[in-house]
Amino acid sequence: MQTDIFIAGHKGLVGSALVRRLQREPDTRLLLRDRAELDLRNQSQVDAFFRAERPKQVYLAAAKVGGIHANSTYPAEFLRDNLLIQTNVIHAAWEHGTQKLCFLGSSCIYPKHAAQPMAEDALLTGPLEPTNEWYAVAKIAGIKLCQAYRLQYGFDAISLMPTNLYGPGDNFDLQNSHVLPALIRRFHEARLAADPEVVIWGTGTPKREFLHVDDLADAAVTLMRDYSGEQIINVGVGEDLSILELAHMVARVVGYEGRISTDPSKPDGTPRKLLDVTRIHAMGWNASIPLEQGIAQTYQWYLAQADGQRRD
Ligand SMILES: NC(=O)c1ccc[n+]([C@@H]2O[C@H](COP(=O)([O-])OP(=O)(O)OC[C@H]3O[C@@H](n4cnc5c(N)ncnc54)[C@H](OP(=O)(O)O)[C@@H]3O)[C@@H](O)[C@H]2O)c1
Repeated sequence: MQTDIFIAGHKGLVGSALVRRLQREPDTRLLLRDRAELDLRNQSQVDAFFRAERPKQVYLAAAKVGGIHANSTYPAEFLRDNLLIQTNVIHAAWEHGTQKLCFLGSSCIYPKHAAQPMAEDALLTGPLEPTNEWYAVAKIAGIKLCQAYRLQYGFDAISLMPTNLYGPGDNFDLQNSHVLPALIRRFHEARLAADPEVVIWGTGTPKREFLHVDDLADAAVTLMRDYSGEQIINVGVGEDLSILELAHMVARVVGYEGRISTDPSKPDGTPRKLLDVTRIHAMGWNASIPLEQGIAQTYQWYLAQADGQRRD
């Protein structure tokens, strides 16, 4: 029996990894629509799509995503677009007979000063990091929507909270990208230009956790098969490193041999953001791609891209 699976946001970092992963699953038909064909903010377009296609499974990997600069420049869009996308898709999926839906949140849902590592029950126990609160509030609303549809209608929606993701298909635009793709591009360009020094934002002391997006896709497919519950599930590695250590690792992979210094006048963001992955480990799932190996693979993907930029 063939299973029709809709991957919302299939061209994105997570969406394209889910396509790679699910293409390996037998008896599945992937339903893929890009934004020009289906704007997920448009309720009637979403309803018409679900009424016509009636997918049995949905992976909600579409969202307005971006780094600190983008969040502080477009707060209204980050809140509105993400609220619209998740509300339209979750409601239409329930209304048109979808059997299972995977909602993707993010580790920024947890309070700025949550105890580290951050366990799932830290949700809504303190104030959020202001630099991305618009996006975080939308994601928390998405979690609650999944829990409410399960409670009222018995709709089997699960919510995964991934840590910082990286990999092929990432956004390398220096204005809107996350820290890891930005470092890969900057060290690459510094090596080509023979720059004697690369200056990184902030003090270099904040600690971050990074998960390869193919590991995330594998976790999502595994939980869609094995897990049905209202509790959110953290997806991470359970280890972190400082931004300065990360910069040295990226420089090694790229082959940059100049000096690396820090600029404390730039913001550091949250001091530490490490997920507690006890729950998903207890389900038998563990990340499998080591960070330096994953960065090397991502750098090869970056070099293979004509202009090195996914989009601006
Ligand atoms: N990246 C991370 O580090 C990270 C970490 C934790 C959680 N997540 C979560 O993972 C999910 C996917 O993130 P990502 O990193 O893969 O983001 P991404 O690379 O920016 O991909 C998002 C995708 O959503 C599509 N999209 C956005 N608005 C749309 C709309 N109105 N209609 C149709 N499609 C639309 C985009 O289409 P276009 O290509 O046309 O723009 C893009 O393909 C998000 O829910 C995010 O919160 C990401």
